[in-house]
Amino acid sequence: MLVQVITLFPRLIEGFVAAGLPRIAIEKGALAVQAVDLREFTQDVHRTVDDRPFGGGPGMVLQCAPIFAAVEALERQHGPAHRVLLTPRGRRLDQRKLRELATHERLLLLCGHYEGIDERVRTGMTWEEVSLGDFVLSGGEPAALALLDGVARLLPGVTGDPESTVHESFEDGLLEAPHFTRPREFRGMAVPEVLLSGDHAAIARWRREQSQEITKERRADLLQARESQSVPTEGKPWIV
Ligand code: ADE
Repeated sequence: MLVQVITLFPRLIEGFVAAGLPRIAIEKGALAVQAVDLREFTQDVHRTVDDRPFGGGPGMVLQCAPIFAAVEALERQHGPAHRVLLTPRGRRLDQRKLRELATHERLLLLCGHYEGIDERVRTGMTWEEVSLGDFVLSGGEPAALALLDGVARLLPGVTGDPESTVHESFEDGLLEAPHFTRPREFRGMAVPEVLLSGDHAAIARWRREQSQEITKERRADLLQARESQSVPTEGKPWIV
């Protein structure tokens, strides 16, 4: 997968993908990331990307011309991409959406900034609008990085164990059960006996119960959504 990120802060994107899981995905050949500096597509000496809003009001608005120029140049070079605009006005990102995005061969992410983006970027080109959550960031970069990280770990061959992305929180509509590793006891806190028992059925049962309990306690909305969507449990013995 090729992910191109149009941004005012290419260094931020480059720094992020130089470490952690995206780097592993890149080294394994599953992912390529290109940070594209929006200022490269301006026409004036000051490399202006924003201007005051028509009609007045606070803040600055990203102009449409550099964005159109960037998208058109990238698509001329690489062919059409699935375009994603990171904006608090978008649909909230979730694991299902990440799975869907991970199926595309090319993603073009656009990070908004300042008070917003000229509306003609939205109306003049097709975008899937995605939000990181019900809060406002100063720019779309943290959202683009969250999306990139979440997608990278789903690409085939990136995590050693493909099951590891299936058994986790949200994939089956439940939060994950707690994890433990050595030592067996730390400052008087012992690892639950069942995890040391070697009884795989009992361990699976314990994890399922913990998962349900934690979800009920913290995210009852997930349980309700799961009931109304009747999440398929076929081939997922850890779901009751
Ligand atoms: N840009 C600013 N706020 C954002 C959000 N919540 N999600 C995605 N992009 C954003």
